[in-house]
Amino acid sequence: LTWVIGGLAIGMFPFISVYVPFYVFGVTHPLLKLTVLPFVLIPICFGYAAVGFRLWDVEIIVKKLLAYTATALTVFGVYVGADRLIRVLIDPEIAVAGAFLLTLLVAMVFAPLRDLIQDGLDRLYYREQYRSRRHILDFARELNTELDLGQVVALLVQRVRKMVSVGRIAVLLQEEEGPRLRLVASDASMKDNPQLSNDFSKFLTAELANRDFLYIDEMMNLLEKFPEDRDLIAEEDLAYFLPLVVKGEVLGLLALGRTMSGDYLSSDDLRILEMLTSHAALALDNAVLYRQAHARAQEFERLKDYNENIVQSIKVGVMVLDTDGRVRSWNHSMEQTHGMSAEKAIGKYADDLFPASFLVALQQARHRVVEGSESIASAYRVRLRYGDDIDRIVNIVLAPLADDRGRQPTVVIVDDVTDRTELEAQLRQADRLASTGLLAAGVAHEVNTPLAGISSYVQMMQRKMPKTDPRRPILEKIEKQTFRASSIVNNLLNFSRQQSSDMQAVDINGVVNETLVLAELPLSTRRVQVDTDLNGSLPLVWGDSGKLQQVLMNLVLNARDSMPNGGDLTIRTARQNGEVVVEVADNGTGIPKEQIHKIYDPFFSTKGTGQGTGLGLSVSYGIVQEHRGTITVRSEAGSGTIFRVALPVADTGRACAAG
Ligand SMILES: Nc1ncnc2c1ncn2[C@@H]1O[C@H](COP(=O)(O)OP(=O)(O)OP(=O)(O)O)[C@@H](O)[C@H]1O
Ligand SMILES: [Mg+2]
Repeated sequence: LTWVIGGLAIGMFPFISVYVPFYVFGVTHPLLKLTVLPFVLIPICFGYAAVGFRLWDVEIIVKKLLAYTATALTVFGVYVGADRLIRVLIDPEIAVAGAFLLTLLVAMVFAPLRDLIQDGLDRLYYREQYRSRRHILDFARELNTELDLGQVVALLVQRVRKMVSVGRIAVLLQEEEGPRLRLVASDASMKDNPQLSNDFSKFLTAELANRDFLYIDEMMNLLEKFPEDRDLIAEEDLAYFLPLVVKGEVLGLLALGRTMSGDYLSSDDLRILEMLTSHAALALDNAVLYRQAHARAQEFERLKDYNENIVQSIKVGVMVLDTDGRVRSWNHSMEQTHGMSAEKAIGKYADDLFPASFLVALQQARHRVVEGSESIASAYRVRLRYGDDIDRIVNIVLAPLADDRGRQPTVVIVDDVTDRTELEAQLRQADRLASTGLLAAGVAHEVNTPLAGISSYVQMMQRKMPKTDPRRPILEKIEKQTFRASSIVNNLLNFSRQQSSDMQAVDINGVVNETLVLAELPLSTRRVQVDTDLNGSLPLVWGDSGKLQQVLMNLVLNARDSMPNGGDLTIRTARQNGEVVVEVADNGTGIPKEQIHKIYDPFFSTKGTGQGTGLGLSVSYGIVQEHRGTITVRSEAGSGTIFRVALPVADTGRACAAG
């Protein structure tokens, strides 16, 4: 532009500064006409500016030129007019001073006047472009903040309606899973839901990929192949199809009718439409991406919940420990095994939560994993004991967890096997009893016969012997010992459960009372105080009252034996967890820890020879098992023992059938 203005100035300066003043003062000379020659410089400068600076926008130059020329002419006209007026009307004498003042005035008003003229010219010249440019800018601004697909399309339809006067407007978008173009928005005049065929959709998309727009008259021949679509287009009076394209991919299209007056769209209209569609396509692409990102985030959230639910609901304890040993995750089973809620446990150090035995096992497993000797390490039957009432046996599995932040937390699976371990112990016990029972049954059978022989021969000899015979007391002792031996044998037979049972619905309180009547004599020999706490509203149990009495009698006698100097014997009955429970408690010597697992073994007895056979508890165990019940013991050496027998409640159906 400097070149253009400079050229103008140099070109016009000699003429304006030399010829014009001389001419004004009435002087003419042929030489003065030479001042026209520098005008040649003007087009040369224009040319140089255009070529040298690629100043192709001639429109702007012409407009600037027009503004300058108009300003110069106006100023010049006013100057000459004013000068003449001064000379003619006022006084030729002050003409020089007037000219000076006028020049000053010209210098002052030239620039503002030029701007004014230029502005006016701009308005006149660019009125249409101004309007559409503002519209497009507004549209782009509106779209910038819009992430909703439907809203973007609606804005596009609105804006097209504002800027171009066409009969029909419709926006069709490519369906996510197929090639079909689906109508997503239209102005009110469209039919409800016009459907383009798949093939025609494909065809349109392919055509529009490399074109700015398609005009219906150009496609008439091609449309022969799609008669239904052709009819639809004709019915809806659509004439133009403009692509909504981003990075070469056609997202959809803008379909338009002819103008309101039935004419074709001007090339200006089409240019505006192309700009609108390119802005809209970008916004659509963003909206689609946003929608996908949103859907993905939701899916992610759903998956996270799903996984968390799985972890929460599985039946083994799962906790995640940070590299610094803090708990990061703690599931529902963990709460149950440990007894602490997730809320409290999360964030605490494992060292503060678990007993030493557990921590040692955990540490060893972790070492093995860190050293790499095992990818997953485990520890079996770890005792988890803290406080008074938590004492569990658990299996631990420890595995490193790849973390997205490069750290390596560990997942620890804590499987509570307390119940399983107890059950296994019971099974082992039952197994041992079963094999011992078989052996005992065999022995009992073999021993019973010779015993019967001994006993009858002794009785025979007693009958033949005079009452005064001094050997008679010896025979009586033999007879007594045979009875004792046969009672042991009978016990053995009981134990081996060879005897059949007479099962029926039994009132356990009744059995307790009968036992206490029978035990009155043996108890009276020691100073044993008997207390009962019997629940009067107990359901019946299914069992053999004779055998249950045998169990209770054994527990009562054991209790008595544990209190050689007297004490308290308490019998309680209650209903717990759907079972009937009988507890026999004493405050006797108690059972030392190292013996407690042996007490159900046959022939285990701490009582002196001839005092106990050690069969009482093993027989009782067998009987309780036969009743599908459980017998458990809690004992502390020095302070007493509580035996607890739990029996299932009689099934009313079965009880009725039996009754
Ligand atoms: N209430 C108790 N207090 C202390 N120790 C007990 C108690 N009950 C059982 N025991 C211990 O368990 C052992 C086994 O008891 P069990 O009833 O099987 O045999 P026993 O009483 O010794 O002999 P039996 O019952 O055949 O006459 C006892 O010898 C005793 O050491
Ligand atoms: Mg006993």
